[in-house]
Amino acid sequence: MTVPCVTANDETIAEAANALRAGQLVAFPTETVYGLGADATNDEAVARIFEAKGRPRFNPLIVHVSGKEEAGQHVTFMPEAEKLAAAFWPGGLTLVLPRRADTPLSLLVSAGLDTVAIRVPAHSIAQRLIEATGRPLAAPSANASGKVSPTRAEHVVESLGHSPLLAMVLDGGACEMGLESTVIGFPEGGTPTLLRPGAIARDDIEKVLGAPLADPEPQSDEAGRSSPGQLASHYAPNAPIRLNVREKENDEILLGFGPDAPSLGASLNLSVKGDLTEAAANLFAMLRALDEQAAGRRLAVMPVPHDGLGEAINDRLSRAAADRG
Ligand code: TXA
Ligand code: MG
Repeated sequence: MTVPCVTANDETIAEAANALRAGQLVAFPTETVYGLGADATNDEAVARIFEAKGRPRFNPLIVHVSGKEEAGQHVTFMPEAEKLAAAFWPGGLTLVLPRRADTPLSLLVSAGLDTVAIRVPAHSIAQRLIEATGRPLAAPSANASGKVSPTRAEHVVESLGHSPLLAMVLDGGACEMGLESTVIGFPEGGTPTLLRPGAIARDDIEKVLGAPLADPEPQSDEAGRSSPGQLASHYAPNAPIRLNVREKENDEILLGFGPDAPSLGASLNLSVKGDLTEAAANLFAMLRALDEQAAGRRLAVMPVPHDGLGEAINDRLSRAAADRG
């Protein structure tokens, strides 16, 4: 049996809200990627997320709320966090902030840390679902752990559709940004830190802060990492990947970028115009499509410039290419 995948409307959103309040999981669209949602105040519901994804326990989850005011019930804001929330919420920015002692959030969403990653999604279906549920929603990307993030409802059905833990998928079409949110941490007394590049470019955040973001300490072990999503092989298709390829080899299929790609034999092009926003929106869907066509071949990816959203795209590509042992 596969999970029901229904067009989001008032009726199906109300049904999804009931399922969430009953502790079930619902996948829903956001402007970044599809989320696998659970009532963030219900430990069992949150645990089901880890189970459905087959995700290692130490990965904390992002909590989605209706607005800044609701976020203030769960975490404390320092001045820089206030500035970023004012500039980018609702939208693709996640802030990792100290947990309030009186928050009803499940401890499991923090996976043992004294912080909570929180964001206000801009997508109207996500907003309506949070409102109808009347609870904060914990939601990682709605894919099996270690696989690429879903940017369409069909991707969720392919990846998690057979999980008996998932009650329904709300279909809201393709995600506008197609790349997960940017995650910013605020170490005590330290500089705001770019924990995960994503939908909002570093430059835009630095402009609002009026200062450069710090980069996280390199972390090689699985204990004590501050953003466990940095796990090297977090975004892995099945086929091996070679990056920065200008000439395709015979046993490869090429993922192109820019106007030269067709003449180099690319099967798909992240952006013919060389537009990084368009490339970001296409990234996961194209990796997925090429992975399906690979039939034993490697995926070769043309160079993508490192500026703007290129940083996040290259981050995802290098994780996808990382040796998965
Ligand atoms: O766009 C997105 O962010 C999507 C949509 C559904 O909102 N969600 C998403 O969630 O990508 P997930 O669970 O796949 O990624 C959460 C990221 C991971 O890198 C995780 O390590 C980091 O946020 N994170 C969560 N809580 C944290 C915490 N307390 N401290 C540090 N990093 C945290
Ligand atoms: Mg994910």
